[in-house]
Amino acid sequence: MLKADGVTKRFGGLTAVNGVGLEVRKGEILGLIGPNGAGKTTFFNILTGIYKPDGGTISFDGRPIHALPSFRIARAGMMRTFQNIRLLKEESVLDNVKVGLFGKTGSGLWAAILGLRSAKREEEEVTARSLATIERVGLKGREREAAGSLSYGDQRRVEIARALASDPKLLLLDEPTAGMNAAEVQEMTDLIRAIRGKGTTIVLIEHNVAMVTGLCDRVAVLVHGEKIADGEPESVIAKPEVVEAYLGKPDEEVIAVAAHS
Ligand SMILES: Nc1ncnc2c1ncn2[C@@H]1O[C@H](COP(=O)(O)OP(=O)(O)OP(=O)(O)O)[C@@H](O)[C@H]1O
Ligand SMILES: [Mg+2]
Repeated sequence: MLKADGVTKRFGGLTAVNGVGLEVRKGEILGLIGPNGAGKTTFFNILTGIYKPDGGTISFDGRPIHALPSFRIARAGMMRTFQNIRLLKEESVLDNVKVGLFGKTGSGLWAAILGLRSAKREEEEVTARSLATIERVGLKGREREAAGSLSYGDQRRVEIARALASDPKLLLLDEPTAGMNAAEVQEMTDLIRAIRGKGTTIVLIEHNVAMVTGLCDRVAVLVHGEKIADGEPESVIAKPEVVEAYLGKPDEEVIAVAAHS
């Protein structure tokens, strides 16, 4: 579904993503993990066309996309959520989700301006589709509430609904469980599994390693902008270089403390 090769992004003297190759297979849930500042979000920003890579190639569904603007990549079927929730807080849940369908429909701007019947029908379709997606993410009955009045966890659901409304082939989720309690994490896990069950391929940036190993088919690890491991979750997180990236090199003091606990 997606193939990245040698993808590199520099910010001044900092190489945030360094020669990363990654394949995403149709129908899988792929976990992307790594310490803070590893380049995970930057990699999503490159995939979705927010940043142009300084090097490397990306193909999506067999077509090169690394030179395309974001809206074309979205239209090709790649949608994402943001690490820092980006909703129109004053607007309703429904209107926030409708934003995800903007530009996806046929009759376009002129029809909307002229108030033609096709535009009206289109508006009704967008609303119906948005309502169905809101129900899918478990927010039925909350459509008219201001997005900003929802709990943090529910706001993340609204973001997912906005990305999901257009029925993307590939959904990129940037830390969907950040700030959630254990029960909410479990609900989010179930939701992600259900989305994949309907045929959407998913890449998930996540710090919760237990969730990643339970949910993902494969895991890739980024450290200092480089991919250091990739494969079956249990074996990847057991690799010494992955453990070291998360915990630092075990030193005598840490071992002594561990021995006493
Ligand atoms: N627009 C930017 N300009 C300059 N530096 C940036 C920019 N975006 C990211 N960086 C830097 O690139 C590096 C990678 O950041 P990135 O946000 O991709 O990491 P991350 O793996 O998503 O981390 P986290 O787990 O904390 O979200 C960091 O050092 C960050 O400060
Ligand atoms: Mg990030």
